[in-house]
Amino acid sequence: MQNIEGNVALITGGSKGIGYGIAQSLLAEGVNVAVTSRSQTNADDAAKELSKHSPTSAIAIGIKADVRYLLDQEEAVKKCVTDFGKLDYMIANAGLGHYENIIDLTDTQWKEVIDTNLTGVFYSIKASVEALKKSKGYFLSISSLAGTNFFANGSAYNASKFGVTGFTQAVMLDLREYDIKVSTIMPGSVASHFNGNTPDEKDAWKIQPEDIGELVVDVFKINPRTLPSKIEVRPTRPDLK
Ligand SMILES: NC(=O)c1ccc[n+]([C@@H]2O[C@H](COP(=O)([O-])OP(=O)(O)OC[C@H]3O[C@@H](n4cnc5c(N)ncnc54)[C@H](OP(=O)(O)O)[C@@H]3O)[C@@H](O)[C@H]2O)c1
Repeated sequence: MQNIEGNVALITGGSKGIGYGIAQSLLAEGVNVAVTSRSQTNADDAAKELSKHSPTSAIAIGIKADVRYLLDQEEAVKKCVTDFGKLDYMIANAGLGHYENIIDLTDTQWKEVIDTNLTGVFYSIKASVEALKKSKGYFLSISSLAGTNFFANGSAYNASKFGVTGFTQAVMLDLREYDIKVSTIMPGSVASHFNGNTPDEKDAWKIQPEDIGELVVDVFKINPRTLPSKIEVRPTRPDLK
């Protein structure tokens, strides 16, 4: 196992949900973290809470950066490197969903899903690849089981996540010669704020955000000669009611 203490992570969409859970787990390992959001207030509030409860000396900072814009992502990487001195882990997590029959799915909904979930991942690696070359770092995307299993009303979300899964695998092949490791995690149902959900007891059967956080820590700690490049993870027991 590698020691990851003192490393630096940038997590897109870390103001809540899975990204926040990953930030908590990395802070517990002594990894400094930057979390992004579309809102500076959301990013700052999350960073304040994360730092307050950090069990190590590692801290979190909040950055307003919309993954739909390359310039925002470049500025976020720049701030991370300025504040913490380097970037070891770029975690492309930000995402959302619109679930509609294709007859009702609008152009605006399609664009929002593809621009955020797929183009956002493209911009995340484009903005960070030079910093990751220097650190021989890690690029991790959060895809979904929807990136391998299609479902009714899922055309936009499935297209974005099938895209993220394929994109990340191709990038893995491009960047391995630079000693940059690349993986995608494909979760099933997670108890997050996704699609307006408020996590509570009804979500107890789901994967919890901190479980994804623990998985990310395990992936980063694995011996560098070994690369878990595509990881499916699901609730042990589905909600059968
Ligand atoms: N929940 C699940 O069951 C599940 C399963 C598999 C995969 N996933 C994937 O996991 C990832 C995280 O989702 P989640 O479940 O944690 O949802 P969530 O609780 O709704 O969190 C989504 C995060 O993404 C941020 N975000 C949304 N659009 C953004 C943008 N354009 N730029 C920057 N940040 C943006 C949100 O921040 P602000 O609102 O503050 O901007 C928030 O921090 C997504 O890619 C999702 O597709 C989720």
